[in-house]
Amino acid sequence: MAGATTIAVLRERAEGETRVAATPETVKKFIALGAVVRIESGAGATASIGDDDYRAAGAEVVAEGAAATGADIVLGVQGPEAELLAGAKPGAWVAAGLDPFRRRDRVDAYAAAGLEALAMEFMPRITRAQSMDILSSQSNLAGYKAVLVAADHYGRAFPMMMTAAGTVSAAKCFVMGVGVAGLQAIATARRLGAQVSATDVRSATREQIQSLGAKPIFVESVAGIEGEGAGGYATEMSEEYQKAQAELVSSHIAKQDIVITTALIPGRPAPRLVSDAQIASMKPGSVIFDLAVAQGGNVEGSVADQVVVKHGVKIVGYSNTPAHLPADASALFSRNLYNFLSAFWDKGLGKPVLDEEIGTAIRLTQGGKVVHERLLG
Ligand code: NAI
Repeated sequence: MAGATTIAVLRERAEGETRVAATPETVKKFIALGAVVRIESGAGATASIGDDDYRAAGAEVVAEGAAATGADIVLGVQGPEAELLAGAKPGAWVAAGLDPFRRRDRVDAYAAAGLEALAMEFMPRITRAQSMDILSSQSNLAGYKAVLVAADHYGRAFPMMMTAAGTVSAAKCFVMGVGVAGLQAIATARRLGAQVSATDVRSATREQIQSLGAKPIFVESVAGIEGEGAGGYATEMSEEYQKAQAELVSSHIAKQDIVITTALIPGRPAPRLVSDAQIASMKPGSVIFDLAVAQGGNVEGSVADQVVVKHGVKIVGYSNTPAHLPADASALFSRNLYNFLSAFWDKGLGKPVLDEEIGTAIRLTQGGKVVHERLLG
């Protein structure tokens, strides 16, 4: 019988990345499946997990640069540089958020190295893969954090307060884009006591907004829009719709104190939702958090990891929002990876074997070649 499957977890090296792809909890679970887990020393430090915590869970903690040696599977939050994987077994899996469109060079390097790269963000949005969906788990935390950061930059309070010195009025918060992050942003702003409204191009979100106690703001005048494309994602909207949306948003946004934008369209730059003129119409002291800043931004003038002040309005956005909650983001990311590998674990073979549907959806490289259809031609 071949030796046990070795799973390696490297220290993340990307700037600003604080997460780690395994926690003591998932290490224990992998070992229970029969795997050996090898962690690079210091991998969990920024997520408040020490080498000893991993050792106590049964992992082998190895020196800097040594984790990938002999590995069958390498787990990452982001894709490691191919050079760091030189010692991995031929055909070893690299399962991480690989950002393949922006990091095509790295995908090509994985192919050249004979590695099998699995892009976790391509996980199909089907019921059985929900527990493996890194986009959902990380967006949820990002939506929460966006509201907290906006609240922190806001010079006023969120809830209405009646005090002996007078009344403080509730903040008005507008959430643009009601996917996973937007829903959590609505819930968080509501918990903090803000008056919340929200908009999306997918009409299916109207009820979700209402069920969270927020007010839906929707374009009613353009016929025949659903805004929903494949896999429940948004599509790019017609010019007529975009114009109607801009008018509606302009009148609404001028009355808002906090705006959280989350709108994304898969494989395309983020749609521009807030213009400089709209920012100018807001009250000084208002705050905008642009969750899409790393994908091109929903807000004119937003700059990743900077607080930009325009017309007295603060515009904030992080290049990696989940990295600002490293412990929970790592815990959920790690569980996504465990749920993925364990769902396909073949007990007889002692290793995971992908089925066709998920394999085709997430596999970028195999047999020395780039094989994913979205990266070909
Ligand atoms: P996303 O991160 O791709 O986009 C965020 C939101 O922005 C979406 O709601 C989108 O409709 C909206 N948007 C795009 N363009 C816009 C515009 N011009 N104006 C206003 N809003 C705009 O979306 P996310 O969070 O990944 O969710 C997409 C869908 O997938 C949702 O329906 C969600 O419920 C569904 N989903 C399904 C899962 C499953 O079944 N496994 C798991 C997670 C999400």
